[in-house]
Amino acid sequence: MENLVIAIDGPAGAGKSTVAQIVAQRLAYTYIDTGAMYRAVAWKALQLSKFASEDIAAIAADIDIQLTYKNGCTFVQIDGQDATEAIRTPEVSKMVAEVAQIADVRRYLLILQRRMAENGQVVMDGRDIGTHVLPNADIKIFLTASIEARALRRWRELIAKGYQVDFEQLKADIACRDKKDCEREFAPLVQAEDAVFLDTTHLSIEEAVCEILRLCDKRISDV
Ligand code: DC
Repeated sequence: MENLVIAIDGPAGAGKSTVAQIVAQRLAYTYIDTGAMYRAVAWKALQLSKFASEDIAAIAADIDIQLTYKNGCTFVQIDGQDATEAIRTPEVSKMVAEVAQIADVRRYLLILQRRMAENGQVVMDGRDIGTHVLPNADIKIFLTASIEARALRRWRELIAKGYQVDFEQLKADIACRDKKDCEREFAPLVQAEDAVFLDTTHLSIEEAVCEILRLCDKRISDV
């Protein structure tokens, strides 16, 4: 099995985690969901009612985040406690873009993320993986979709979990998060120069997965 490092970046709801997880499964690689790590910090800050940047950075400095994968699902443990569902609540989603803007939070999580990827054979997804975390990744993908399509996917996910959500409000929240992710000072969401742009608005999950696996095969046969 080749030792590739695959970086997948893009905005919320583009299908990154679903696609990245399947790609990792097919290659028998490790999948690392860096969004879950920012969510973990936001969740803990909410639990402790800490809202000042320096307090949130202090949380990021010593948080213990364990990511495990079973049956296509990412399980998240924070300081030994299961927080798989808790980090996906609308409250955490609302707060997380603010948390991700704090330079020290990004610095601490970057150290953890690089450590997680140091042995290779990883698929890591996020917003700044190809540009900052793993700039030497073998394959870089910028996965996106129209705001309508992304909001609809998130809305379906939340409804399936039993949340009452207004579609227009959700779309506005995603647009607001996109803006914060793209405009922040440190490691904003931007396509790496050497990333492949993949628009999933009209692609199925399987089509997106196949395209990434095709790029992996091509990379392997090119070297
Ligand atoms: O992918 P997600 O929706 O779970 O990400 C949660 C938030 O974390 C989102 O606002 C973007 C931010 N994030 C980031 O800034 N950098 C990353 N590498 C991953 C996520």
